[in-house]
Amino acid sequence: MSINSSIDDTHDAVVNEGLTPEEIELAKGLEDPVLWAETHLRNPDDPAEFIKLRWYQKFMIRWQPEKYWSDKEKKFVWKKRKKLYRCGRRVGKSICLLIEALWLAYTNNHYRVIILTPYEQQLRTAWTVLKRMMGDQIEASRIVEKPFIIEFSNGSTITGYIGGVKKDRSSTVRGEGADAICVMEMDHGIDHILTAVMVPILLGKAHCRWIGDSTPSGARGLFYQWCIKPESRGGAKDFHYPSSVSPEWNDDAEREAKDAGSLAEYQHEYMAEWGELTQGVFKTPDVDDTLVKTTYREYKKQDTKLNSVYCMGVDWNQTYGVKIYVVEYNPNTHRYKTVLKREVPNDEYTQTNAVEEIKEINKKLPLTWIYVDKGYGTTQVELLHKYGKAHPETRLHKTVKAIDFKSNVVLKDPRNGKKIKKPLKPFCVAAAARVVENGQIDIPEEEDEKFGLVGQMRGYRQRITPSGNIVFEAENRDDLLIAWILALLAFNVEMGEFTKYETAKIFRHIKDPMGIESKYKKRTIGLDSTSKRRYGSGRSGVKSRKPWRPIIPGGKVRLEPKKDAPIGSTQRAPWPTRARPQGPRRSTF
Ligand SMILES: Nc1ncnc2c1ncn2[C@@H]1O[C@H](COP(=O)(O)OP(=O)(O)OP(=O)(O)O)[C@@H](O)[C@H]1O
Ligand SMILES: [Mg+2]
Repeated sequence: MSINSSIDDTHDAVVNEGLTPEEIELAKGLEDPVLWAETHLRNPDDPAEFIKLRWYQKFMIRWQPEKYWSDKEKKFVWKKRKKLYRCGRRVGKSICLLIEALWLAYTNNHYRVIILTPYEQQLRTAWTVLKRMMGDQIEASRIVEKPFIIEFSNGSTITGYIGGVKKDRSSTVRGEGADAICVMEMDHGIDHILTAVMVPILLGKAHCRWIGDSTPSGARGLFYQWCIKPESRGGAKDFHYPSSVSPEWNDDAEREAKDAGSLAEYQHEYMAEWGELTQGVFKTPDVDDTLVKTTYREYKKQDTKLNSVYCMGVDWNQTYGVKIYVVEYNPNTHRYKTVLKREVPNDEYTQTNAVEEIKEINKKLPLTWIYVDKGYGTTQVELLHKYGKAHPETRLHKTVKAIDFKSNVVLKDPRNGKKIKKPLKPFCVAAAARVVENGQIDIPEEEDEKFGLVGQMRGYRQRITPSGNIVFEAENRDDLLIAWILALLAFNVEMGEFTKYETAKIFRHIKDPMGIESKYKKRTIGLDSTSKRRYGSGRSGVKSRKPWRPIIPGGKVRLEPKKDAPIGSTQRAPWPTRARPQGPRRSTF
């Protein structure tokens, strides 16, 4: 017998003194989270049975923090406090995290567990899974949603928070204390809350532990930093399992996973590899700043502003229907406003309905340009042009432009003035990102949903391939985002030299549908001294304003049609969203 096992036996004898063999078994069962889970928790997919953990889940769950005496510090200290589950999709990582949350709350008195998820839907799903696992075995004195709280009779609580989407949401967690922090999808855009709020909570208690799960997003944030560093250097224990370890994985699943998206996505999502560095296109604090407390409403004559310019963007999406945005630009304040949103659901009349909708909006609003994604919209663009020619007062044949994201844009090199060609898509995305970064745009806060415009902005990433091309990846689809980007592109392309225009010139075409043309004719906008000289200063009393700042350096740009693209081609750029046409990605477990 080794010295250690002899010590263990003596220790056990002291600890177990006075207990019956059943009580000793029970105590052991409570001490071991795996044993506890398999004897107390129901299988969430089949509540008639107890859960049976998979081999790797046992490894992950059994790894627990340890308390030891530090001679140096002359006190008990904790180690192994942070562990991270870096696993592929559907491996069963979130369930491990939830099992531990329940185990900790059940086996400790007055224990506080915090569960943090990037989106509300994930928290709701987590609550459903928790309730199913508890079944009739574990009684809670209170289970509520919104706020997400589970209370046990021993005084322990599990509280759920939404961490990712809004800066001000962090304030709800701020100031809380906890004994355990469980973060789901930790690598998906919530670093700002983790570092500002959650890490201080972890540091607030010597025994507080951190359990995080995620697929790698390609970012090099906190999840990555903790995974690659050893604990002695502030890192965490990371468990890395690809999706293929799951018993549910098979050849069909592998084929589907590969077909669903790019190789990079497969590496991140299923192999749980770090892959190439990808970056969010829109920075979270900037996106938060775009939100305004307003909702979309029906636009009426009195809503349009005298000096403002309106452009529309349209995305024809085969899977999600047609998305339409109108963005207003106010040259006085140099600000943009997302004023109108229309979605035409996908059914057999989608395209016709969308064309009608565009005509309708065009009647109501003084639209200067309508930029339409060429992808699936070629026929509809032709219809609009035809209608415009038959009804010249609508000007649709002139204002509607089909944009092929595979084409190039011609820019002036600011260093030598030479013309250079750049792929259009990164150009438009960069232009939109700059508007957001400059704090020049307002977006109604109702868009801050996972699949809303702002949700799509938060999940939009870019990565540079080894050949130097920029590739975009959308975590939460990009149909709304593309329509909105197209509206902004119209401003940039058509009015890069906006200062040279008179408003009347821009609006000359409108057959005064709302009785406003006469007013426009009277005004000039944004004229700088040069253009005033060229065009005349307009009305006396109109102040000279700051010249309009083009969004992209290089000023006016010209769209270059792709030469080899067949006319009327329905070919489409390989959007990353096609990768996930099955709908909500992270809404389910
Ligand atoms: N040990 C188990 N026994 C039975 N079912 C399980 C087990 N572990 C996980 N599952 C089931 O597998 C599915 C995926 O589990 P879970 O949501 O925990 O995985 P995940 O890795 O977090 O997935 P995602 O990548 O979608 O977040 C769920 O339906 C869950 O109920
Ligand atoms: Mg999960």
